[in-house]
Amino acid sequence: MNRVYIKTYGCQMNERDSEAVAALLRARGYRLVSDEDECDILLLNTCSVRDLAEQKAIGKAGRLAKRKRQQPQFILGILGCMAQNRGAGLLDQLPDVDLIVGTQKFHQVPGYLDNLRAAREAGVPVGDTIVDIAEETDSQNTIRDHVLPERPVTAFVSIQQGCNMDCTFCIVPKTRGDERSRPMDEIVAECRELAGRGVREITLLGQIVTSYGRRLAGTPGATAGAASPFVQLLERIHEIDGVARIRFTSPHPRGFRQDLVEAYGRLTKLCDYVHLPLQSGSDRILRAMNRPYTRERYLEIVAALRAVRPNMAFSTDIIVGFPGETAEDFEETRAAFSAVNYDMAYIFKYSIRSGTPAATLPGQVSEEVKESRNQMLLRLLEQNSYRRNQALVGTEQEVLVEGPDRKGLRYMGRTRGNRTVHFAGAERLIGQLVPIRIDRATTSVLYGEVRGEVGA
Ligand code: 5AD
Repeated sequence: MNRVYIKTYGCQMNERDSEAVAALLRARGYRLVSDEDECDILLLNTCSVRDLAEQKAIGKAGRLAKRKRQQPQFILGILGCMAQNRGAGLLDQLPDVDLIVGTQKFHQVPGYLDNLRAAREAGVPVGDTIVDIAEETDSQNTIRDHVLPERPVTAFVSIQQGCNMDCTFCIVPKTRGDERSRPMDEIVAECRELAGRGVREITLLGQIVTSYGRRLAGTPGATAGAASPFVQLLERIHEIDGVARIRFTSPHPRGFRQDLVEAYGRLTKLCDYVHLPLQSGSDRILRAMNRPYTRERYLEIVAALRAVRPNMAFSTDIIVGFPGETAEDFEETRAAFSAVNYDMAYIFKYSIRSGTPAATLPGQVSEEVKESRNQMLLRLLEQNSYRRNQALVGTEQEVLVEGPDRKGLRYMGRTRGNRTVHFAGAERLIGQLVPIRIDRATTSVLYGEVRGEVGA
């Protein structure tokens, strides 16, 4: 009765949270299984950023509730952002859920499951749902345990929770709470431990990593001219032997200052890839979104980074159809989108999030218009990706070998610019940086061959 399956929706932060819950459960004697039909306990770690994400999880939970009727001991839990956003209100739609745990209480999941199981074993009638969505001081420090595969190559490290930016479209300040950073020493210690276990690439996670440590007592950097706490953190991780690559997500253009641009000139382990959310290319819409930068400033950051690293690849988040977005506003987004020549982009149709300021703005855009703007950017992105991938044919790329590809036919890894490469490899190459000559490319994948001695 202790087999757990966790299904994760949404962002990398959610994946990391699920991983930490899994590690805690395993330490408590639970078994994590990879087949949901084989579990006694099913946890949905949810996302609220768009309505669609919530509807997916609710649909899934509704179907699972039926399973409870055939398997009365079965435990169904909803964790994370939607749990935080909706709380006990979820029970109106999903009366059979046993556990609702918010984003600051992931570490309580093992205890709550122990209680639910004990009640079932004692034959106590299945009673009230456990709901815990309270805030908890220092909860950002509870995401630190990892479940790693046998040969871990890459890992996510959470450096911060929450966000205080109050973008008018965004539910995250509600689901994740105020910005809270983990102490730098703890993050560095976690990275060192991961490196000791063979991890070569670390991705630092936070809702707004460029604000890391600003509110943390005892972090130097408040003095004028000193590097920001985030850059100091990058410098310290850069010194760790074994760490070969550092990535992070997501920065905010407002916090992407000169010290961070310069860090790219100095810190060679920082990859040639920056995910920099633009959201809109129209200054008018950016203002309405409460995104305190202009298109010009954004393009300036991109140019500064390309001056330091000519091969820098960019990805972004865009929202189309924000309330009041006119054809001219969208045209400015399209133009900025083309100007940056993104390698990758996540394009979203604006989704009304109840309780956020934009939800009640006039000028809500019709679904048809959102869809056509969405399609237009998707087409542009596809062309860009194909062109950029084709331009790599014939070049040699440094690839960090992660393991066999999904079909088990070849090996896969990623370039410094975050492009996936498939090639004929060998087990011993896992975790190594190898030079690969790119022979062929599609929109999403590069194919190549290991060069020289390493491949022999
Ligand atoms: N509608 C559509 N997209 C949204 N995002 C955040 N809130 C909304 C919303 N209400 C997008 C933003 C953000 C990404 C994680 O999700 O682009 O950067």
